[in-house]
Amino acid sequence: MSKGFVLELIKLSKIYSESGSDKLVIFKNINLSIKSSELVGIIAPSGTGKTSLLNISGLLDLPSDGEVRILNKSTKSLSIEKRNNVRRKNIGFVFQSSNLLNEFTSIENVALSRIIKGYRFIEALNYAKKLLINVGMENRLYSRPSQLSGGEKQRVAICRAIANDPKLLLADEPTGNLDGENSKLIFNLLIDLVKEKNVSALVATHNLDLIKKMDRVFSLTKNGFKEIH
Ligand SMILES: Nc1ncnc2c1ncn2[C@@H]1O[C@H](COP(=O)(O)OP(=O)(O)OP(=O)(O)O)[C@@H](O)[C@H]1O
Ligand SMILES: [Mg+2]
Repeated sequence: MSKGFVLELIKLSKIYSESGSDKLVIFKNINLSIKSSELVGIIAPSGTGKTSLLNISGLLDLPSDGEVRILNKSTKSLSIEKRNNVRRKNIGFVFQSSNLLNEFTSIENVALSRIIKGYRFIEALNYAKKLLINVGMENRLYSRPSQLSGGEKQRVAICRAIANDPKLLLADEPTGNLDGENSKLIFNLLIDLVKEKNVSALVATHNLDLIKKMDRVFSLTKNGFKEIH
């Protein structure tokens, strides 16, 4: 895709209604456009709204106001079913704690995301195997999440996120539970894969060291959303 945007956030706001009539304003009027193959970081302290913003960007949650556009199309008035389809076809997620399915092996966790996209079972398994071998998991293909270390689980989670050939990768503190050395490793892996597959990525983190490789970086604070690099 050479023209247009993969993700556009237009005047996006999120307000949670607390018990009674209290309202918790998380962010207001966020504008952001991400082009094909662009890597964008969000740096923000805990509790400022990274997860809320990524969930809304990935159509897992609705904004209170504003609009999310995916591949130049508005998602504003889509039915739940159509939103789910847009997500399954175009978006991959890496969560802070890997969120793998405990009953399934590494290879099955990765393959499932491709099967849901519509690929055939055997093709999906072969593809998942290739992805996992590519990230050094050749000896852990048939392990379940409980048998994996935190870093290994994140490697599986990253492979799962890209196994459906997404146009957009959303990563929420992808190295949040890892030590410094492993964080660097996993983060570099994520960036290499994104570059190799021409995926656009929006990555939230509070680790300043990890964002030097991003094309653009924004900060999200109580005072607003602004570009810092
Ligand atoms: N469903 C909800 N209802 C009410 N408040 C919520 C809800 N979800 C999140 N919040 C509040 O919104 C704020 C932002 O939460 P969010 O999880 O988006 O932050 P975050 O930047 O991802 O934090 P962390 O770095 O700790 O993961 C927090 O104050 C949180 O308590
Ligand atoms: Mg969060």
